[in-house]
Amino acid sequence: MFTARAGFLTDSHRARVGIERSGTAAGQAMKWVIRVLVAALVVMGLAVSVGHYLGRPYNEGFATMPGLVALHIVPGAAYLAIAPLQFVRRFRAGSAVIHRWNGRIAASFAIITGLTAIVLGVAIPYGGALESAVVAVFGAYFLGCITLGVYRARRGEITRHREWMLRAFAIGLAIATVRLVYVPIVITLGDPADEVLEMLFALTFLFAFTSHALVIEAWLRIGRGTGAAPGAAGPPAGI
Ligand code: HEM
Repeated sequence: MFTARAGFLTDSHRARVGIERSGTAAGQAMKWVIRVLVAALVVMGLAVSVGHYLGRPYNEGFATMPGLVALHIVPGAAYLAIAPLQFVRRFRAGSAVIHRWNGRIAASFAIITGLTAIVLGVAIPYGGALESAVVAVFGAYFLGCITLGVYRARRGEITRHREWMLRAFAIGLAIATVRLVYVPIVITLGDPADEVLEMLFALTFLFAFTSHALVIEAWLRIGRGTGAAPGAAGPPAGI
């Protein structure tokens, strides 16, 4: 049971995408592509968080509520840094106690991040009403995923717990995709008007959060398609 998983991949995922347990070259490559992509998004998210305090923020509203902004960025960065450990088999295998405590801390950070995200998105949105709406929807979804993840863990429903926590993490990673999409477009456009930048920012939020929500849903379905949902087997991953 314990050996049925490795990191983000379950046996059912392997079967679907053609990765044998013995490890074909293509399968190993696929596994590494996924790991590298996720790691790159985590690093990007952390870089954006550090970068916020190094440069001049694009949104003048940040200066009006620095405490709230810090209460969003610092727990958000901490969540991005420690949450991936929860999905690593070796980490879970090491100690169920550490997995649970790391999970409790990560979930607490996520809740603070989600609540402050909604306040920021509604109070000082750089991208106007569209950004407020997107943040209200996905901020609530992020909080809902964490809440359901904790609830399922407490009920011992580890498969569902893992699925909700993967959804939350995918939403969190979208903040990196926002920058990866927005910055190159702005550079390509040259010197766009402020209204264009603001609308583009809101549209990028919409794109990033929606695409991450859809990709993780597709990923979870691939796992279920073979009869075993991701995380169906393995050690307790409860909070
Ligand atoms: C999970 C980890 C997260 C981290 C590390 C994070 C990090 C940040 C950072 C660094 C900023 C300041 C932007 C900058 O100076 O470039 C920011 C702003 C913001 N974040 Fe997050 N964030 C996270 C999650 C979320 C989530 C889940 C949402 C909403 C669904 C969200 C919504 C916002 C909003 C609305 C702003 C203000 C954007 C604006 O200028 O209008 N964040 N976040």
